[in-house]
Formats: sequence, C-alpha cells, structure tokens
Amino acid sequence: MQDLELRQFIERVKLRSPIEVSIGERVSVLKQRGSLYWACCPFHQEKTPSFAVDPRRGTWHCYGACGEGGDVIAFVERFDGLSFMEALRLLAQQCGEPFPERNTRRAVGAEAAMDARYELLGWANDVYRAAWRRPEGEGARAYMQKRGLSGLTLEAFGIGWAAENGQMLVGAAQRDKKALDGLVEAGLVRRAEGGRPYDFFRGRVLIPIRDRLGRVVGFGGRILGAELDGPKYVNSPETPLFHKGRLIFALDLAANAIRSTHQLLVVEGYTDVMAAHQAGWKNTVAVLGTATTEEHAALIRRTGARSVVLVFDGDEAGRKASTRALLGLLKLPVELRVAVLPEGRDPGDLLIDAAGSETFRACVEGAQEWFDWCLAGLRGLRGGELANAVEERFQLLAKLARPLERSARLAEMAQFLALPEADVRAQWQAFEAAQKGPVRPTAPTPVREPQPEPVRAPLSAHDARLERAYELLIGALLLDNSLVALHGHLVHGCPAGELEFLFVSLLELYERDESGAPIDASALLTALGDHPARARVVALQNAAAEAESAEILARDQARWIERTRAERELETLKGALGANGPDQADALERLHRELRAARVPASRAASVRIP
Ligand code: UTP
Ligand code: MN
Repeated sequence: MQDLELRQFIERVKLRSPIEVSIGERVSVLKQRGSLYWACCPFHQEKTPSFAVDPRRGTWHCYGACGEGGDVIAFVERFDGLSFMEALRLLAQQCGEPFPERNTRRAVGAEAAMDARYELLGWANDVYRAAWRRPEGEGARAYMQKRGLSGLTLEAFGIGWAAENGQMLVGAAQRDKKALDGLVEAGLVRRAEGGRPYDFFRGRVLIPIRDRLGRVVGFGGRILGAELDGPKYVNSPETPLFHKGRLIFALDLAANAIRSTHQLLVVEGYTDVMAAHQAGWKNTVAVLGTATTEEHAALIRRTGARSVVLVFDGDEAGRKASTRALLGLLKLPVELRVAVLPEGRDPGDLLIDAAGSETFRACVEGAQEWFDWCLAGLRGLRGGELANAVEERFQLLAKLARPLERSARLAEMAQFLALPEADVRAQWQAFEAAQKGPVRPTAPTPVREPQPEPVRAPLSAHDARLERAYELLIGALLLDNSLVALHGHLVHGCPAGELEFLFVSLLELYERDESGAPIDASALLTALGDHPARARVVALQNAAAEAESAEILARDQARWIERTRAERELETLKGALGANGPDQADALERLHRELRAARVPASRAASVRIP
C-alpha cells in the first residue's frame, strides 16, 4: 500500500484532474447521459458506446468486451502507455500539483539526477533551436528546406543548428550557468588535451531524439549536403539517457496516430520520418540504424499497434536494414509486413512530391507478410549465394518463440525453393548448432520478458459463486462504508488472491480513516497504486451499484456466505463422524435441513458447534 503522504498527494492530483476532462482530451465524443459520460471504448473495437466515465465517482469502466476500469491515473497509464508513476507525474504536471517534498527526496537521488539530465538536454535543444532561427542558421534552414521539408515540419521536430566554431554550447552554458560536467556526461561537450571544453556537434543540423514521453535524450547531427568531411550523421554517444537499443525516433510524435490507425510504419532514417509526417503518415517512426531489440518491441507493444510495416529501400542495404529491423519484432503479437520501395529511393525523397507519394502509398499497401518477403528475396539465387541468403533468413527464424511456427516456416521455405524439406532442416540444424557453438560470442541483450497473464485455475461452481458473493459484498462496502462494521469480519473466509487483497486493503483504509472521506473505488485505487488487483476495483463497485440498496445487497451476500460456510463445515463434520456417531449425524442432519430452510439466522449459523 502507498504511504499516507503519497496517497494524499494522489488524492490532490485526482481532485484537480477531473476525470471527464482528462479522458475527454484523449477520447473523442464523450456524450453525457444522466450523470455518466459515454464513448466508444478506446481499448477495444466497438460501434456502440459501452465505455462510461463517472465524474462523481472519479472512475471509468467499459461495460463491453474488455470490461476494464479504473480511476483517472489508470486511464492515462493505459491510454498513454505509461507506468503508474509516469501517469501520476504527467497529471500532476498538468494540474500544477507539486510533488510532495519527502517523496522527491525519497525519489532516491538517482531519480533527481535523471531529472537534471533531462532538463539539461532540453536546455541544449533550446540553444540549438535558437541558433537555427538566427541568421547563422540560414544555411542549415536552406539546406533542409531544399530537401523538401517545410519550416513547420522542421519546427515540429525541434530541429536546430550547431555552429562550426565549437564554442556555441560551451558559451551558452557559461551564460546560463550550466555545469559543463553535465554536458560532458551527455556527450555534448568534450575536453581537449589541456582541459579546454569544446562542442561535440559542430557544423551540423541537429535532430533531437526524444523518448516516448517527448523528453530530449540525444541528438543526430547531419552535415550540410554531401559527405565531404566526415560521416553524414554523427549521433550522441551512449549515455545514461541515450541508448539506441531502447529508443525509437519520433515515437512521441507518432503515438496518437498509431493509436487511431492501429498501424505503425518503420522507416530507415531521420529525414524519412520527417518527410512521412509532413506527408500525413504521422504513424511513422525509425530505429536509429541498429537492429531492433526486445526493448524496441516492448515500446511498440505499448503503442497498441496491431500492424507494423517496415518501409525500406529495395536495394541490398535496404534489405539488410529490414532484416535488422525485423530481428527484435518477430515476437510481437502484431501483423508484421515489409514494404519494398523502388531501388535507390527512400521515403525522404519520395514523399516530397505527389508522384512519389503515390508510389509510397502503393508500396505500403502492397507490403508483404514478413516471411513472404523473406522467401521472395531468395528467388533467382543459386548455390552458395542461396545458402548464404537462407542463413540470413535463419537468423530471423531463430527469433521465433514457438518451435512449431519455425518448423512450419522451414517447410514453407523448402516448398518455395522446391528442395527436399530434409535438406532445409539439415541446414537449419547446422545453423543452430553453429549458433550454440562455444566460438561465437553471444551478445547478451537485456531481455525483459513480457509479464505472463496470471493463470487462473478454473473455478468450481461453488467457488465461482463464492467469488461472486465476495465481489458484490466488497462492492457494497465501497458504496456504503457504514456496512464495513457489520460485514468486515467476513474477510476471514474470503477466497485468497486479489479479492482478499482488496478486502484487506479496504479494511486497513477504513480502520485508519485519517480524513473521514469516503473509501470508495477511487480512494481504494489511490491506496493501491499500481498493484495489479486494482484492475477489478471499479467493476466491483459498479456491479454492486446495480442493486437497489447496497445495504440489502451486502446483507444477502453475507447471509449466503455464512450459510454456505456453515453447510460445508457440517458436511465435513458428518464425513468425519461417519458410522461411529449416527445420533450426532442425525442431529446434524436436522440442523442442516433447518439451515437450508434458512430458519436459522445466518449469523448464528456461522457459530454452530457440534452438540
Ligand atoms: P541513411 O543513410 O538512409 O540516411 O541512414 P537518411 O536518414 O536517409 O538521411 P539523408 O536522407 O541522407 O539525410 C539511415 C539512418 O541511419 C543512421 C541515421 O539514423 C540515419 O537516419 N545513420 C546513417 C547514422 O547514424 N550515421 C550515418 O553516417 C548514416
Ligand atoms: Mn535519405
């Protein structure tokens, strides 16, 4: 459970973030009917609205297929793809509620240090942008615009300019009293032999790279024009904030479009992304010239994309890049396709005129299922060349989680090549053995496995009914706290697991009762933080709210619970007595019948003891 201070803070944030406003900003057409607002559920596909927001209770709930619900924090979390703390922070920022003192201190210095780093990079981006707008940025602006990118697009991406002289950022840091050490750590400033600081990026158009929350974490710097002097792009070095393996360029800008189209386009480079957004393909992102990782996949999973299309140049380099981009994404439960552009063309140069845009659209629409694309690339290859290309595909097959899928792909490949399946499998086994061999250094990628769904054993009819009784009871207690004193003791006997956890949490809150404020679904959610059991809270309260009276509902459930418990105890006892005590058994049988006829009040039933 969250500590008191944090809970009070969460309550303040919730109070100042009206749920219908926060959800209304994210979900279109919230229609008011009675005291509820209705919309089509943003978390599943539907035509008639079954998603309800209850401003009085501060909760939302989908009465349709997904059945999800929660408070405003849970919504922002889910909708924006954030963690609990991230969503809380976002809402706090928006309503201007400062983080509590102790909490910030406790935010383990480390978090404060991270905040300082983000702050510094944001500042650096401002410095570069200011230079871009000044006369000295004229050349850079002209170059980018000549490439077909509008001032508006460049502005939206926050493009800047780093002067050639190598003293622009260093000078600005002195002026704005920024510690140079932070800039050195961020890779933006270096020190020469004698310790003299100079800018890392010089004479380059600077493209800020932001994380999914829109915080600048690094830069890509492009030289003006053709490669004359050094590489075309120089990127920030890996720093505490900048890990290519965990970043997706423009994910922050694309998030909304991905949510509405359910599709994500992955292109190769920075300029490709900018041109795509300018042309209206706002669901476009890029990985930073690296192979995709599980971390990339996790980021994409959170966008809610159902279809991912890789759009790459049709040349050899483009094919290699698509393969790298596929590696980490194969385990995603999405439709994964590859669109091949005409050789030598990239989205950056296609999307700046009408004809090119048409070509681009046709390519995206004609994108092939990823394995079909793999097979198509084998066409016309022979001998050793073919074997090499096949092994390149094997790298992808090796990433598949399920052996059966791999096996089926191998069979498809054999059929496509019109070769004996045994040969393809033999080749695969050789490849696999080589992968496992001790010679090859295996790169340990940080694997963050998706959380498995909690497996629930199927419930017996009785257990299911008991669950239901407790659900309704807890819901009634949330609606009317005065019932806690009457029925709270039933927590003993609550089916173990989430329900019990919720019941106990409710009682704890009730006993502490610092504020006297009602302990309803919203208050319980505040106390639960991001505990998984919170997913059930709103449904519990809403189910109970359907009854005419929480009091009667609670009483009926309590009776049922106590009676069935007594019945079960009796059954057990009868079993234990067996043939040895026919008289007692008879007496018990009578009691049992009485109980069934509900002549014995439930409260007594619970305390029946053997005579
Ligand atoms: P491209 O060479 O396709 O560049 O590299 P681009 O994005 O189309 O750039 P323009 O159109 O020539 O301006 C694709 C991506 O690979 C990375 C960058 O992320 C780039 O966007 N890259 C490329 C580098 O990091 N360094 C390089 O020298 C080249
Ligand atoms: Mn390009």
